[in-house]
Amino acid sequence: MINSAYTPPLDLVRRPRRNRQNAAIRALVREARVHADDLIQPLFVKDGAGVAEPITSLLGQSRLPVKALVAEVEALAKLGIRAVAVFPQIEPSLKDARGTYALNTKNWFFSAIKKLKAAVPDVLIIADVALDPYTDHGHDGVLDASGDVANDETVSILTHYAAALAEAGADIVAPSDMMDGRIGAIRDELDREGLTHTSIMAYAAKFASAYYGPFRDAVGSKAKAPLDKSTYQLDPANLREALLEARLDEDQGADILMVKPAGLYLDVIASLRGGTALPVAAYQVSGEYAQIHAAAAAGWLDLARARDESLLAIKRAGADMILTYFARAVAEKLRSA
Ligand code: PBG
Repeated sequence: MINSAYTPPLDLVRRPRRNRQNAAIRALVREARVHADDLIQPLFVKDGAGVAEPITSLLGQSRLPVKALVAEVEALAKLGIRAVAVFPQIEPSLKDARGTYALNTKNWFFSAIKKLKAAVPDVLIIADVALDPYTDHGHDGVLDASGDVANDETVSILTHYAAALAEAGADIVAPSDMMDGRIGAIRDELDREGLTHTSIMAYAAKFASAYYGPFRDAVGSKAKAPLDKSTYQLDPANLREALLEARLDEDQGADILMVKPAGLYLDVIASLRGGTALPVAAYQVSGEYAQIHAAAAAGWLDLARARDESLLAIKRAGADMILTYFARAVAEKLRSA
C-alpha cells in the first residue's frame, strides 16, 4: 500500500494557480474584456410600416421596419451600444441583374437611414457598401460577359452608392464587396462630395466563407444555386493574402480594417493587429451566431457562456471592436452584472 496521507510540497518557485485562486485575483490579472463600447449591433431593415419580422435562422433577430428600427436603436443606446450596422432587405420586385435600385434616389433605405440619424443622432450608423441586396443573382457587383463580377464597373457604382449612404446620414461606410481599388475610389468620391468626415470601415480581409448562410437568408440574397464568391472574397486558406489586402486598404485611406468571419480567423486578427496602427474590427458573422444558438437550443452548450467566450477570444486575438448579433444580449448582461 502506498502511504498517501502525507504529500511533501513540490519544490516549485512558480505556482500559476496562485493567480487563479479567487474571483478578485482573476479579475486583476484578466487580459481581455468585452465592453459595450466595443460592440456593434448589425440590424436588418425592411421597407414599410409593418411589424418586426423574426428571422428564423438568426434566433432573436428580426427585419425591422423603420419605426421599429428607431425604437431598437434607442433601446440599444440606453444599454450603451453606440454603433449599429444596417443592412436592407430589398423586395425581389426591386432587384435586377445590375442592382439598379441601389442608386435610385428614391431608394427607401436612404430615407430609413435619414430617419434613424435624425431620431438617434449620437449612435453611429455603419452602412454596408455592396450590391448583393439589390442584385437578383446575389453577387456583390455587376457581372461581365463571362458571368464573373466586373471589378472596375462595380467599383464605379459602389462609389456613388457609398456617397448616397453618407449623404443620407451614415457616419461610416463599410465596403464589403472585396473589389480591387474600391477603398481609394470611395475615399475620392466622398471627398469630392465634401464628405471628408465620413469614415471608411474596410471589410479588408473578408473570406469566402460558408458561415454567411443565415445572413443571406435575412437579406434575401440567397440565390437558387449556391453562391460562389471566391473570385473576389479571400480563400480561407490564405493569411498572407489577407494581410496584403489589409495593407492595400490601409494605403487607400481606410480608417478601420475589418476581418470577417471572426472566430475562425483569430490568427488573421492577431497578425493584422501586430501589423497596423489602425483600429481592427472583427465581424462575428451570422453562421457563428447561429451555430452557438443551435447548439444551445439542443441543450449541448450553455448559451451565455459560449457567447461570452466566443467574444472574449476575438478581443484577446486583438480586435478593438466586434460586430456581433449578440451585442444587445451582452450589453443587457453587462448592465445587470
Ligand atoms: C454582403 C455581406 C455579407 C455579409 C455582410 N455583408 C454576405 C456575403 O458576403 O455574402 C455577411 C454577414 C453575416 O453573415 O453575418 N456583401
